[in-house]
Amino acid sequence: MDYKVKDISLAEAGKLKIDWAESRMPVMMALREKYSKTQPLKGQRIAGCLHVTKETAVLIRTLRAAGAQIAWSGCNPLSTQDDIAAALAAEGIEIYAWYGQNTEDFYWSIDQTLKMKPTLTLDDGADLIFTVHNKYKDLVKDIIGGTEETTTGVHRLRAMANDGKLLYPVIAVNDAETKWDFDNVYGTGQSSLDGILRATSVLLAGKNFVVAGFGHCGRGCALRAQGMGANVIATEVKPTAALKATLEGCRIMPMEEAAKVGDIFITATGMKDILTGRHFETMKDGAIICNTGHYDCEINIPDLEKLATSKRQMRDNCEEYTMPNGNRIYLLAQGRLINLAAAEGHPSEVMDMSFANQFLAQVTLAQSGKDMANTVHDIPNEQDQDIALIKIQTMNYGIDKLTEEQIKYSTDYSAGT
Ligand code: ADE
Repeated sequence: MDYKVKDISLAEAGKLKIDWAESRMPVMMALREKYSKTQPLKGQRIAGCLHVTKETAVLIRTLRAAGAQIAWSGCNPLSTQDDIAAALAAEGIEIYAWYGQNTEDFYWSIDQTLKMKPTLTLDDGADLIFTVHNKYKDLVKDIIGGTEETTTGVHRLRAMANDGKLLYPVIAVNDAETKWDFDNVYGTGQSSLDGILRATSVLLAGKNFVVAGFGHCGRGCALRAQGMGANVIATEVKPTAALKATLEGCRIMPMEEAAKVGDIFITATGMKDILTGRHFETMKDGAIICNTGHYDCEINIPDLEKLATSKRQMRDNCEEYTMPNGNRIYLLAQGRLINLAAAEGHPSEVMDMSFANQFLAQVTLAQSGKDMANTVHDIPNEQDQDIALIKIQTMNYGIDKLTEEQIKYSTDYSAGT
């Protein structure tokens, strides 16, 4: 079996972590039990490009249990957990992933996974689909469809579909309610703060914590930072998002102003150049900057490098840049996803629902992808409700059911005051 990982001797430690994640992912375990019997993915070859974490390992084990052959790479140069990659390789998964890849390693790994000639693709950020479309178009004839995990990837794939350039159907896993309304908010919120704390160990209480972008991910970071006693400032370009932030208790101001008062900055916009040279020049001594968006272009690192008179590595994932005025700025995790590069990514409990959507979307494609148009498809709301119901039941909560009379009432347009 082919693989390339940092150190295969880490497999035992990785296996323990995967077992730990499984104990917190009851929806995935229920799906595994059910679909290992019916084998809906038998004969499918799935190439995956998604952060190699303990939760992803649970997804991979489940896809395999349902009959699929798997080849995998990470979707970010700094997010692979090497012990997990080793454990997967030891379990016979074809995997090419290690922490600290350069761009060449990154695309080499994707190329390796495509040698299996996949019938399905699974992406987080769309780099695998782009590679197929740009470099290996001949593979498209075998591909039934693909799935996409994240907001940034879905945006780009919708743009591709609008231009008529998407060559096979894609299911937007990100847009399932049981994904974006949980993983993006609570997963990003908790794990991003976890990353900041592991990289800096600073006190959050009393700090001016600047969140750039008040989408789901930004909101999650803001809520959790408030919970730790920080004064949250949000920056936005969208009036409705700015308004929501103010009603969540945040101050709103343009980045130009926030740059001067912030102690900790986190970008969560999906847009480039959120923090650039003109911001670095006015930041306070000791300012900490990091990113939780998919790509590393939200903080303009070339600007920081150009301005700095010196730099040094202070701790893991924390680099100090000294500005010409003597102020020091601390860049975390090289501007890459702070939650995955400096911590372990979203907790298992939320990834349980995100990956249940991933898994079921792959099954949908295997069963009916051939009849789907080459565009970006949403996950049906019934799937969301099924996943949420299993989740809430495994948390030992009961919910109510509408009576027949109430169901009739809900659509009765003759009833008034
Ligand atoms: N994205 C964010 N957190 C993740 C995790 N724990 N596993 C895989 N992908 C993730």
